Amino acid sequence: MSKAPQNQGNRDQDLQMLQSILAELVKPFVGREEEAKVILLALLTKEHAVLIGEPGTAKSALIRRVAQLLNMKVFIYLLTRYTEPAELFGPLDINALKEGKYVRITANKLPEAEIVFLDEIFKANSAILNTLLTIMNERVFHDGYTEIKVALWSLFGASNEVPQEPELEALYDRFLLRHYVKPVPEDMWRDLLKKAWEIERNGYPKPEVTVDKSFLHKMQNLLFQVDLSSIEPKLLKIFSVLESKNIHLTDRRKGKTLKVIAAHALANGRLRASEEDLLVLKYIAPHDIDDFEKVNIILAEELKTPYKFLRELEEIQMNIRDVASYVESFPSVSSRFVEYRMLELYRDLESTRDRVLAMMRETDNEAVHKKAMEVIEQINSVMEKIRKKVEGT
Ligand SMILES: Nc1ncnc2c1ncn2[C@@H]1O[C@H](COP(=O)(O)OP(=O)(O)OP(=O)(O)O)[C@@H](O)[C@H]1O
Ligand SMILES: [Mg+2]
Repeated sequence: MSKAPQNQGNRDQDLQMLQSILAELVKPFVGREEEAKVILLALLTKEHAVLIGEPGTAKSALIRRVAQLLNMKVFIYLLTRYTEPAELFGPLDINALKEGKYVRITANKLPEAEIVFLDEIFKANSAILNTLLTIMNERVFHDGYTEIKVALWSLFGASNEVPQEPELEALYDRFLLRHYVKPVPEDMWRDLLKKAWEIERNGYPKPEVTVDKSFLHKMQNLLFQVDLSSIEPKLLKIFSVLESKNIHLTDRRKGKTLKVIAAHALANGRLRASEEDLLVLKYIAPHDIDDFEKVNIILAEELKTPYKFLRELEEIQMNIRDVASYVESFPSVSSRFVEYRMLELYRDLESTRDRVLAMMRETDNEAVHKKAMEVIEQINSVMEKIRKKVEGT
């Protein structure tokens, strides 16, 4: 057997592994697929990611889940304004100090960790901020006296809000990936109860796959083999559009974007980037809370398909939910007027369904097809409800 097919086989297996990692990450949760993707992108690019969102949206739980999956040295800490440097970086060695040497005992502390999770990251006070900045950017622990190279792979942060203080700007910029976590929508509440109950009762399921550093290294090498030639003009154009709409990416962020695009292609099993990979700008471009939605809209306009379709389908889905509860709010079809409204809604639903079918014809994208099928099912069930109501009169 020649060497090439075997490599190909290994490669397919590795790419498949990325899917398994995603599946393991989201397993205990409902509606956290996108968050898992952001975490995977951070791991593949050796970058840092922060999850921002209201309390109780499983931000901490998700990052702890990653820690469970990774066969790497992990350091997890909840920051408060009063956190002392020693808590993160290790206490000073008293014996060394007696000899006039300034040494920290870093065993089991942040400087020795490969994966770091700092909860409430923007509570970092100035005493730890500067040390953190060099650790994140240069991977060097600089303590005034000593300089140690650290093994940090990715640092994950969680916070309820975007930092407002200018002194936190440099820290915020070091999170190449930023994601705004929203509470799960109403149609997932039933599932949420089930999953949360499961977690309360049995804790988190033991991961069926684990990832070690050598796998991440291998993926990093593969990442640089991704063919990015076709997306560059479009990327440059989107940078200008964002800038013109007052969404400014620092040069650091612009420079690192290609890496994330390549990682997104890998996560989708491809060694060639395509326009849909530019979606990752969604996690790189936003700065303020409002930007998350603004960037979404800009990308939807700039990236024809399939992203635009996915957004449209999501909007349709929300409308269908409204229509469904509107229909349910009528106990019976008691008047001509109600009957007329129902028939009107029925016809609207029919044309919406046609629109969804048209989208399916326009693209082969798997995600669009999956979502479209889901939406059609929802439309059909509301149409069925209307039929029953009208026939019941
Ligand atoms: N989408 C979800 N799926 C399943 N369980 C969830 C989900 N969202 C929240 N939970 C449950 O709620 C718990 C609280 O989540 P967690 O503490 O991670 O929230 P958080 O976003 O870190 O909140 P905070 O900002 O207050 O720290 C989780 O451990 C989990 O049991
Ligand atoms: Mg938390």
